[in-house]
Amino acid sequence: MTGPTWRRRDDGALELRVNGVFVMDDVETSSEVALARTVIELGAREVLVGGLGLGYTLRALLASPQVTRVVVAELHPEIVDWMRTGEIPGADLLADGRVRVAVGDVRDAVADQPASLDAIVLDVDNGPDFLVHDANAAVYGSEFIDVCANRLRPGGHLCVWSMAASEDLVARLSAVLSDVREEAVPVTLQGRAEHYWIVSGTRRDAVGADG
Ligand SMILES: C[S@@+](CC[C@H](N)C(=O)[O-])C[C@H]1O[C@@H](n2cnc3c(N)ncnc32)[C@H](O)[C@@H]1O
Repeated sequence: MTGPTWRRRDDGALELRVNGVFVMDDVETSSEVALARTVIELGAREVLVGGLGLGYTLRALLASPQVTRVVVAELHPEIVDWMRTGEIPGADLLADGRVRVAVGDVRDAVADQPASLDAIVLDVDNGPDFLVHDANAAVYGSEFIDVCANRLRPGGHLCVWSMAASEDLVARLSAVLSDVREEAVPVTLQGRAEHYWIVSGTRRDAVGADG
């Protein structure tokens, strides 16, 4: 695997790639913002976000005074360094006193949390069926979803960004969470009207054995 790279395209957009594969740009970020707004509307104050990307989900979370603590898990230290040093926008986000960055796999960052999070927001890859990192298959798997459920307070929320609708992902969340929804977020991609998806669920009072 090669590391992340960023570039300014001819159209002026900032683009992030990992392993040579397009991850995101700063042109259409409404679904990243929608992820944050979903958990804000659900009343979340303490949130874990995986991963950092270009920081749109994090910025939207921090825009709410209701949010008191955000742990951001980011696999690639280069992205965090670029943002901290101002090479890419977002130094103000990482300087916010409510933010702690955990460099590493989101699975480790979640496992390290006490079982009191109001929300876990996962946007580390393109969803279960279009992976940039093969290892991220585990992020959408039952075992990790169970760990997430156990790191939420009762009534807390897990929200997962996905490029495409996924019955399997909905089924895996439904096995341990209640009120599972799959919501389409309208986006415009190269002039075409498309959808990305947010799959979410709520921790029941009692969940599985982990935690
Ligand atoms: C699509 S971007 C996130 C976009 C972000 N929501 C935003 O608003 O800009 C995915 C990010 O997750 C990171 N990532 C990929 N796999 C990861 C993992 N297993 N754990 C933590 N971060 C990961 C990538 O390096 C990238 O920064």
